[in-house]
Amino acid sequence: MRTRVRCPGSCGLAASLGTHPCRTVPLLLLLLLLAPPAWCSWWLMGALGLHVSCEHVPGLLGRQRQLCLGHADVMRAVARGTRNWLRECQHQFKNHRWNCSTSTRDQRLFGKAILRSSRESAFVYAISSAGVVHAVARACGRGELRACACGAPEHSSGDFAWAGCRDHVRYATRFARAFVDAKERAEKDARALINLHNNRSGRKAVKRFVSRECKCHGVSGSCSLRTCWHELAELRRSGDFLRRRYDGAVRVALNQDGSGFIVADRHFKQPSKSDLVYSEPSPDYCVQDQDVGSLGTDGRVCNKSSRGTDSCEVMCCGRGYDTRRVTRTKQCECKFRWCCAVRCRECSETVDVHTCKAAGQDV
Ligand SMILES: *[C@@H]1O[C@H](CO)[C@@H](O)[C@H](O)[C@H]1NC(C)=O
Ligand SMILES: *[C@@H]1O[C@H](CO)[C@@H](O)[C@H](O)[C@H]1NC(C)=O
Ligand SMILES: *[C@@H]1O[C@H](CO)[C@@H](O)[C@H](O)[C@H]1NC(C)=O
Repeated sequence: MRTRVRCPGSCGLAASLGTHPCRTVPLLLLLLLLAPPAWCSWWLMGALGLHVSCEHVPGLLGRQRQLCLGHADVMRAVARGTRNWLRECQHQFKNHRWNCSTSTRDQRLFGKAILRSSRESAFVYAISSAGVVHAVARACGRGELRACACGAPEHSSGDFAWAGCRDHVRYATRFARAFVDAKERAEKDARALINLHNNRSGRKAVKRFVSRECKCHGVSGSCSLRTCWHELAELRRSGDFLRRRYDGAVRVALNQDGSGFIVADRHFKQPSKSDLVYSEPSPDYCVQDQDVGSLGTDGRVCNKSSRGTDSCEVMCCGRGYDTRRVTRTKQCECKFRWCCAVRCRECSETVDVHTCKAAGQDV
């Protein structure tokens, strides 16, 4: 039974939170309810692992709410997809100043940055769309979704028969388009067009790694009958692909009447459908600045022998670094014993860990 709870005093909002008495309402949820809805989104459902019903996820739009209500099974997949793409995003950027870290205490997840149209938000939009498609398609493939007929009736097309999943990616793409793009389809400003483009590019990055797998049947492998199905690669493949697209992202500018965007530098070619596009330059992410979504790199671990983005020079923005000597134990000299055990020794190793100095600290 759902009861309406009116919280007294400080929280003072009418919250319909199931049967929770007011004082057990998690602080987080209160923050969400107090937050301007525009900043809340379906991302929360997975990222925060909130088991709230569709009516109580703030910021869901009418259409999203409808889809949410009608497809509880798909929503579970969406939530799983959200955790997966967040992890994938962090993997792709672990060695960078901007490392896709989110703040679960902040319903905006990425701070205000994501409201901008930087390269980083382009990536986040794309990978989030990809993550949803991937998780929904996987769930469909496992037969977990009522509305997604995956084990399509066997039917022949040419010299092979379909067995198992054929349409799951198409279903997932359609669902993701309807659910994720619900908002910006309605308000067609230029920034929305940029986001739409990146979301679409993310969905395509999943489709790209669907392959047709077949198996031979027939007398002693004669392959007189083949059955085939569509197999979905790991999300990592799409993540790697989008990461390269991030590097080659195309800067665009809005065209005069605001109906679309054009490539900002006319020496560049028009972005293709799988390119990422952005319109605002990124901050350097060296110092903390909430307004641009930068956490700064104080205290980040850097790699002294690297020459890349994780080098102490680059990561610490020239501020210098502190070095700590730490000893850790790990398993070593592992041997396989017949049969069947692996025996290891414990070794200790001493390593230097370098961390970036804070801005304004003595170098
Ligand atoms: C793109 O995806 C994001 C999150 O993944 C969503 O919030 C946004 O509404 C989508 N944008 C468009 C243009 O559909
Ligand atoms: C990402 O950066 C933030 C702030 O610079 C830091 O707190 C966090 O630990 C980093 N995350 C990872 C996974 O390195
Ligand atoms: C540091 O960078 C070097 C050179 O790129 C690499 O070989 C090494 O594995 C890195 N160390 C760590 C701890 O990531």
